[in-house]
Amino acid sequence: MRIGLIGTGRIGALHAATLRATPGVTEVLVADADTARAHALAARLGAGVVAAPGVDGLYAAGPDGVVIAAATGAHAPLLHRALDAGLPVFCEKPVALDVPGTLGVAARAATPGAPPVQVGFQRRFDRGYRAARAALRSGELGWLHTLRACTSDRTPPPAAYIPTSGGLFRDCSIHDFDVLRWLTGREVDTVFAMGANRGDAFFRDGDDVDTCAALLRLDDGVLATVTATRYNGAGHDVRLEVCGSAGTRVVGLDDHAALPTAEAELSWRRAEPYATFMERFRAAYAAELAAFVDVAAGRAESPCTVADALEALYVAEACDLSRRTGRPVAVADVRERRG
Ligand SMILES: NC(=O)c1ccc[n+]([C@@H]2O[C@H](COP(=O)([O-])OP(=O)(O)OC[C@H]3O[C@@H](n4cnc5c(N)ncnc54)[C@H](O)[C@@H]3O)[C@@H](O)[C@H]2O)c1
Repeated sequence: MRIGLIGTGRIGALHAATLRATPGVTEVLVADADTARAHALAARLGAGVVAAPGVDGLYAAGPDGVVIAAATGAHAPLLHRALDAGLPVFCEKPVALDVPGTLGVAARAATPGAPPVQVGFQRRFDRGYRAARAALRSGELGWLHTLRACTSDRTPPPAAYIPTSGGLFRDCSIHDFDVLRWLTGREVDTVFAMGANRGDAFFRDGDDVDTCAALLRLDDGVLATVTATRYNGAGHDVRLEVCGSAGTRVVGLDDHAALPTAEAELSWRRAEPYATFMERFRAAYAAELAAFVDVAAGRAESPCTVADALEALYVAEACDLSRRTGRPVAVADVRERRG
């Protein structure tokens, strides 16, 4: 199978290397709006990765499926193009910067006979998240009382990335919103969110926040907290605590956990904390792309649809509205108003 990959920045470069090593993939064609970047990546990765002369050239080469890892604002038009070409497509989150753009893709993807679309929420493929979900679904944890999710980057992305990102809730916490839905099988009912700017000025200048905290209530009454920051000096820290009446599972509490203890008698950290999402989720990215190869080959259905991505985006929109207005927001209000 020959896969076309569009967007060769941070995550695109990683996906190209991962795809090349994925069973069933014989060639990865890469393209970027910055043609030199695509060529440099192909030269760096060598055998099995070929630079196409732009996105038109990539389609002309006749790939069997497309992976979109370009900047978020380009996702929706690139998704429409892949679907128009009749090709299975994997797209990084989020599907679009806004609800109308996501709804447009959702409608196109729901057309009878449309090729499958898989959205890149890789935590669904992470071993720890899967084990926590299995424990919850088995009844081992009893009834849930609290979910605590955190996504803390050690250092911020480049300043130029921020205005293209959609903001901290749509760019970062959206992973937690998706995983809460996927793990519990419930929808988020109400949110109350705040943001803070204590880091570089480019966040404020880009109408964004560098740190956020949101309180969520699920539609069965379970409470969840979701926090995110771009400045976690201890290391990249992505965790979820799933706390029930009969037991708890903590995702991300492994040897690399960026949690230096304040207790004198206790020392359990044995490995360096992860530096970025790339090390933290390397195995999950490989698993999600292997799953996409199965989807593209017609052997499996999409494990993460545009409809899923739309629901996560509604939660992100509700959080953004809440932090701007200082009030709790019902996700249904956002859904009705926007969609
Ligand atoms: N799932 C994850 O864990 C994860 C992690 C990081 C980024 N992402 C997502 O991946 C996407 C890319 O993020 P990044 O950090 O790699 O960004 P980046 O800025 O490093 O790279 C984006 C690339 O897209 C290219 N590009 C922009 N518009 C294009 C177009 N129309 N056609 C072709 N190429 C185009 C740019 O030239 C650039 O090379 C974002 O949507 C982001 O939300 C997901």
